[in-house]
Amino acid sequence: MHVYLNGQFVEESQAAVSIDDRGFLFADGVYEVVHIYRGKPFEWDRHLARLHRSMAGIGLEGVSDHELEEARDRLIHENPADEAALYIQITRGTQRRTHAPPAPGAIPPTVLMWVRAVEPIAAEKVAQGIAVITVPDDRWAKVWIKTIGLLPNVLAKGKAIEAGAFEAIFVRDGMVTEATSANLFRVKDGILYTAPVTNYILPGITRQVVIEVARQAGYSVVEEPFPVDDLYRADEAFLTGTLTEVLPITRVDGHSIGEASGPVARHLLSLLHQQAGLV
Ligand SMILES: Cc1ncc(COP(=O)(O)O)c(C=O)c1O
Repeated sequence: MHVYLNGQFVEESQAAVSIDDRGFLFADGVYEVVHIYRGKPFEWDRHLARLHRSMAGIGLEGVSDHELEEARDRLIHENPADEAALYIQITRGTQRRTHAPPAPGAIPPTVLMWVRAVEPIAAEKVAQGIAVITVPDDRWAKVWIKTIGLLPNVLAKGKAIEAGAFEAIFVRDGMVTEATSANLFRVKDGILYTAPVTNYILPGITRQVVIEVARQAGYSVVEEPFPVDDLYRADEAFLTGTLTEVLPITRVDGHSIGEASGPVARHLLSLLHQQAGLV
């Protein structure tokens, strides 16, 4: 399998970055993940726009849309799959280790891209729903930047798995923010609730698409902070994410919310699949 690295398509096993890469040393970089459904990137323009916002958020320059789109098309062409993930990572580049970032544009960034087939989420998980635990949101205050600095997310996911759950839900000042790699919605009396877009969540592309298709389908969607207790008392809850799609939650910190996936989550998943051209 070929990956794209700094202008070249190279065999995966041969692709290497320097020990002085600022991504490796400082997690000084940003990334995107795009779902490729039957060869078509889903919501490419929104992912590209968010990548630009993330890059601007850390003062990183030097990547053209043309470069990204050419590489995207070749990687998709070379890796045909029903469903695949396109990964894009851009770091500030390679420089002898120093905290001081180089001036924007002073050194070329490191650009890595690959496309790999993904398995759809197990049907059983979608049907039965998943268990989650809540954990303190101890991430930094610029969560809106899709940085590769994901250690708090990695540790929280590890805690969830240790607890026999599938995901961890971050809670900041008593309010639910999001999951380690997905946004979260709850449903009460037919109304959808999700945390508002602030610096404390990643503005998920899937979150936005789900809000749009839900409103078109006649649901009310409220973007307001809510406490953990509201999650325990929800009629339904679900995660949204590029590869997560719409994934029902049926257990939160041991509290049961439904025995199986709820009708709203199932409906929204089918609307998302429609949007992706699957049905
Ligand atoms: C922390 C976090 N929140 C939310 C999301 C969902 O965003 P999207 O729907 O754009 O994949 C992700 C995706 O990776 C994420 O890492």
